[in-house]
Amino acid sequence: MKDIIIALDGHSACGKSTLAKAMAKALKYVYIDSGAMYRAVTFYAMEEGLIKEGKTVDRQLIIDHLSSINISFNYNSKTGKSETFLNGKNVEEIIRTIEVSKFVSEISKIKEVREKLVEFQQRLGKNKAIVMDGRDIGTAVFPQAKLKLWITANDDIRVARRYKELLEKGYEVSLKDVQDNVEQRDFEDSHRKESPLVKAEDAIVLDNSHLSKDETLKRAIDLAINAMK
Ligand code: DC
Repeated sequence: MKDIIIALDGHSACGKSTLAKAMAKALKYVYIDSGAMYRAVTFYAMEEGLIKEGKTVDRQLIIDHLSSINISFNYNSKTGKSETFLNGKNVEEIIRTIEVSKFVSEISKIKEVREKLVEFQQRLGKNKAIVMDGRDIGTAVFPQAKLKLWITANDDIRVARRYKELLEKGYEVSLKDVQDNVEQRDFEDSHRKESPLVKAEDAIVLDNSHLSKDETLKRAIDLAINAMK
């Protein structure tokens, strides 16, 4: 069995990261959450006042600050999970808030932001044995990936799952807020100029609308084992 790169792409809240984490664990591969990188840049922009009046993203200011943004992932042996760090600070939880979600698509449209993050993602994939999820992993980051999965689930199910996840984490959000945000990000991520969210031609569709987590994982692992031969 050879080590491979596994790319998972799909719309917001389709279950990509849950599946990617479980696959990495089962295969003893490294899991990389590329969305966390875009979220970390967004959080930085919010903290540094690069979003004018809390509304408009100042593109040039963000580009000017890019060299001051350092993102890393560190393994937390207590939780058994990898966590996102921004300039040495653990931001794993704070980057998941709906406030960050509201601006992340805008930030991820910026070509220079994408160039920096894609370069980092490609470096992390140098040794293969990696599962990465995002929006352009199979198309732009690793077009040569041996296994590309296009993860999908129906719209209501995606919104309900994300809503439940945020409530469980203790965030006060309304279902309408979550629905609006998922719709807005789906639209913006699919219609941007730079590496828009599209299914790679050679990606295999995995619709998990009516599958349990275990069933989805089993299908994905079978595909991975096949791709490793
Ligand atoms: O996977 P996520 O929902 O945490 O991603 C947050 C946002 O980051 C998503 O709405 C678009 C952007 N993103 C991207 O443009 N390219 C990626 N590879 C991953 C995420």
